[in-house]
Amino acid sequence: MVATAPVALVTGAARGIGRGIAVELARLGFSVAINDISNHEVAEECRKLCEQVAPHPVNTSFEFFQADIAQASDRARLVDAVRSRFGWIDLLVNNAGVAPHVRKDILEASEESFDRLMAVNVKGPYFLTQAVANLWVSDPEALRSRARKPKIVTISSVSAYAASLNRGEYCLSKAALSMLTPLFALRLAEYGIHVFEIRPGVIATDMTLPVKEKYDRMIAEGAWPIRRWGTPEDVGRAVAAIAEERLPFSTGEVINVDGGFHLRRL
Ligand code: NAI
Repeated sequence: MVATAPVALVTGAARGIGRGIAVELARLGFSVAINDISNHEVAEECRKLCEQVAPHPVNTSFEFFQADIAQASDRARLVDAVRSRFGWIDLLVNNAGVAPHVRKDILEASEESFDRLMAVNVKGPYFLTQAVANLWVSDPEALRSRARKPKIVTISSVSAYAASLNRGEYCLSKAALSMLTPLFALRLAEYGIHVFEIRPGVIATDMTLPVKEKYDRMIAEGAWPIRRWGTPEDVGRAVAAIAEERLPFSTGEVINVDGGFHLRRL
């Protein structure tokens, strides 16, 4: 008999870190709902990569679900569509996030950019998590019958605590997002649902491409002890450890995937 695959919903998964996460979950035998705001072609590349690494014979499937997580109607449509296609969600990965279009000093930054980042980086994941959590708690029978208990992983950033004066709105949004994990960890523990934050450092993606030289220089100067760029795979493997239930007595945990950037020295 072919086993039924667990199901992951990964937001912002067409490219970058989200794609790295989708591929590592596919490698583990998950079906993946690949969400992104747009970009069908890029999402199709992600889907193909997932298919290439998926173990056989497992009944996995990879599909693209277009939705803007900042929009309430899109979030509702996304959860409904994933549920109708796959029947359940075992793992929600809140990955989608945006940086400011232009990095501006905090004395000049605009309210427009602030609102955009808060909508995508905070409001979107918060209410998507609420919607998926309600799906779980409103169906105790399904919750009991699944082989594994649901999990939530949120991708924040070292910007949750490291101040960058030229993108204050990004730092504020990631600091706010960091509170999602303790809140939902406390609320959902009684259902056996565990909640984690992954806090990446500097990861090589389109988001960091415009500031590549700055980070190349910082790496050469030893700004973090593991002297290299992080990769989407580094983050994907951390998510995979959680998805594989390698941390069964942990919830509300922050996992730094930053080459040791968070360590202080004296
Ligand atoms: P990226 O810009 O390469 O990819 C982000 C993906 O999210 C894109 O495919 C984009 O279309 C999608 N997206 C954007 N807004 C969306 C929305 N409203 N709804 C659905 N999808 C949306 O960025 P990257 O680097 O892969 O970042 C992924 C996450 O990791 C973000 O939350 C980012 O803040 C975070 N992060 C990135 C770091 C880095 O160094 N690249 C470091 C720390 C955190």
